[in-house]
Amino acid sequence: MTDLHGFREFEHSGWQGIPQQYHQAFGELTTQSIEPLLDAAGVEPGTKVIDIASGPGYVAAAAARRGARVIGVDFSAAMIAEAQRRNPDIEFREGDAEQLPLGNGLFDAAVMNFGILHLARPDQALAEACRVLCPGGRFGFTVWAKPDEAIGFGIVLRSIAAHGDPNVPLPEGPPFFRFSEPDECSRSLLAAGFQSPEVIKLPQVWRLPSIDSLFEFMKDSTVRTAGLLRAQRPDALEKIREAMRDASRQYQKDNAVELPMPAILASGMKP
Ligand SMILES: C[S@@+](CC[C@H](N)C(=O)[O-])C[C@H]1O[C@@H](n2cnc3c(N)ncnc32)[C@H](O)[C@@H]1O
Repeated sequence: MTDLHGFREFEHSGWQGIPQQYHQAFGELTTQSIEPLLDAAGVEPGTKVIDIASGPGYVAAAAARRGARVIGVDFSAAMIAEAQRRNPDIEFREGDAEQLPLGNGLFDAAVMNFGILHLARPDQALAEACRVLCPGGRFGFTVWAKPDEAIGFGIVLRSIAAHGDPNVPLPEGPPFFRFSEPDECSRSLLAAGFQSPEVIKLPQVWRLPSIDSLFEFMKDSTVRTAGLLRAQRPDALEKIREAMRDASRQYQKDNAVELPMPAILASGMKP
């Protein structure tokens, strides 16, 4: 049976340990979706915005650059500290996306960049985003496209399936790629109280410094995928590393590796 409490604790302790590693591995990638995300949420000068699961604060910072009034919320104190260090003029607050520490109807826009796939209760978080918006307010979120398109995930998952055990015991959470399905995004947004859902795909490219970077980043700078890798037997892990290196080779350009990593951007309006 799914242990939602255990899964949340697993995610929480994972994120607590990796603010720097996450920035180094994913900062250049997850920031690629920010401008379309802010557009989908209607962020303009003066808009009151909440950045949910704000991590190092990339989206909050971009919203502030647009002249919006923004607050970031994340359940990891270490991520909040990192976001605050990077953005001393923006307010960041520790809090859970599934139970936001903010009142009803306070915001014109809510955004969650690559956060929803980490939540134990994503539908609860969608309902919370809706609660804190005012009528007419807009919510947007991003997730990775499915692993056949988001090549970095395709490579790691295929390598584990070929050389390791994809079913090692880990705290079980909701399906990682649930919201990679546009119809599921629309259905979930409507169920949470939003109207007029829109879903688009964003082309993105992950530029990695070497053919070993994908393995290293997945092992040291993620939570669920890192858990899967670290639970493999040492001999299997070495084969997985080699398979990931081989697969990365075909995406080599000059001295770097360029992996297609498209994102799904879903948005809706609170009636
Ligand atoms: C993949 S990072 C995304 C960070 C950032 N939004 C970005 O654009 O790169 C996921 C973030 O979600 C946060 N998170 C995970 N579960 C959460 C929850 N239940 N409530 C609040 N934040 C959560 C993690 O601490 C982490 O900072």
